[in-house]
Amino acid sequence: MTIKSSEMQENRIKDIIAANPSITEITIQGWVRAFRSNRFIALNDGSTIKNLQCVVGFENFKETLLKKVTIGAAIKVTGSIVESQGKGQKVEIQVSKLEVLGEADPEEVKLTILSPKRHSLEKLREEAHLRVRTNTFSAIMRTRSKLAFAVHEYFQKNDFNYMHTPIITGSDAEGAGEMFKVSTLNPKDLPLNKEGKIDYKKDFFEKETNLTVSGQLEAETYAMALGKVYTFGPTFRAENSNTSRHLAEFWMIEPEVAFYDLDQNMDLAEDFIKYVVNYAIENCKDDLEFLEQRLLQEEKSKPQAERSEMSLRDKLAFIGKNNFKRVSYSEAIDILRNSKPNKKKKFKYLINEWGADLQSEHERFLVEKHFKCPVILFDYPANIKAFYMRLNDDGKTVRAMDVLFPGIGEIVGGSQREERYDVLRQKMTDLDIDEEELYWYLDLRKFGTAVHSGFGLGFERLVQFVTGMGNIRDVIPYPRTPGNASF
Ligand code: 4AD
Ligand code: MG
Repeated sequence: MTIKSSEMQENRIKDIIAANPSITEITIQGWVRAFRSNRFIALNDGSTIKNLQCVVGFENFKETLLKKVTIGAAIKVTGSIVESQGKGQKVEIQVSKLEVLGEADPEEVKLTILSPKRHSLEKLREEAHLRVRTNTFSAIMRTRSKLAFAVHEYFQKNDFNYMHTPIITGSDAEGAGEMFKVSTLNPKDLPLNKEGKIDYKKDFFEKETNLTVSGQLEAETYAMALGKVYTFGPTFRAENSNTSRHLAEFWMIEPEVAFYDLDQNMDLAEDFIKYVVNYAIENCKDDLEFLEQRLLQEEKSKPQAERSEMSLRDKLAFIGKNNFKRVSYSEAIDILRNSKPNKKKKFKYLINEWGADLQSEHERFLVEKHFKCPVILFDYPANIKAFYMRLNDDGKTVRAMDVLFPGIGEIVGGSQREERYDVLRQKMTDLDIDEEELYWYLDLRKFGTAVHSGFGLGFERLVQFVTGMGNIRDVIPYPRTPGNASF
């Protein structure tokens, strides 16, 4: 990026700090992070974790003006780039012109998270509109943005078509019934039909609708024409789980590929994750270095056993380089059944028999204690998985896969889809899934059906992993969780 002279005010601090000293004057705008000794302004414009030191000769400026240079204020600075005498930066700005664009009353700033002291992540969440002005959150959100770009880059490079699936739907893709209803009916005056039930014929869409839990079913229709597609959009789940890994509104990436079986699906998931993690390592260097230090600090207050064995960047490099371990559900159950925490009754949910649904404590044991690497579990019992997964010849397992990550647990859920019309229809009947509502989904199995597969990756869980943040509420700008939809 070339540095622009003062008439053009588009300079970004990340370019200035990397530039060489120059007599040409440049202009920079940003927010004051600190003002020391009435002389040194630490200026940040969001382009980098680093601040630009701007040196003002206070003799040359009115005191009334300098008084307004306070933490949080927006300012415009013009000056030349000079070699820095101080430590910590190569260059600084020798300020010739200074303008306060937007003041920030120090008395009021003191009461917010902008005040320069350590604030808890909980406190920062309460002021989510300001938290992105902190080092931690600007680093997270820049990394989030880079990761989103990497997602598109990966799929576009690999000839996938980006598909926009509907956000309002009439179907429950996961069959789990955890949906937010969409309606324009007046809750105080609901129209009733002859049976005394709510008459959705009078509603906006003349039927029951909800926010989508997944774009998968629609993505399958496009995969069966375009071959390779992916979605990347918001999804909604009204599950009442108040955990550090669940949001009511989260972003999901769902590739779907015609003619892929489960093994190819696993290959795709692994290759994709490695690509985006490596992209972050390459393109978010300063932010990851900062987040790694933050995590070290945070972990100092934890008992040794709970601290990570690897630093954040070593962990990312490990993921980028090493193969994921592929293990069948049945093998995993054997491992868990014979594990120490199971025998010593340390698990909250003990594993007694084949068929048990795995909880995050089990997933994390497999990944963090047993295999010590990401794990792909496959061939799960049919009755703990969604209706659309392909039934194996044993008649009791399905071609499902979950990718499990250290510190996170499940990061990806996917499967080979049931492509056989009769088998799928029978499954829908057994599970009482409305055939009329999903006639179009069944049509795919009538007209040129083929083996196909896909998966969903929870974008926030990926961002959590890459940034080392323990709570999913801290990797999305405005988290929606049970009891919270502020901002
Ligand atoms: O395993 P899930 O429910 O799978 C599906 O929705 C499939 N239709 C995907 C597919 O095959 N196309 O969700 C996929 C991923 C999970 O592995 C997890 O990473 C994330 O989405 N996820 C959530 N992330 C945050 N908050 C929640 N409440 C989440 N529920 C799922
Ligand atoms: Mg899942």
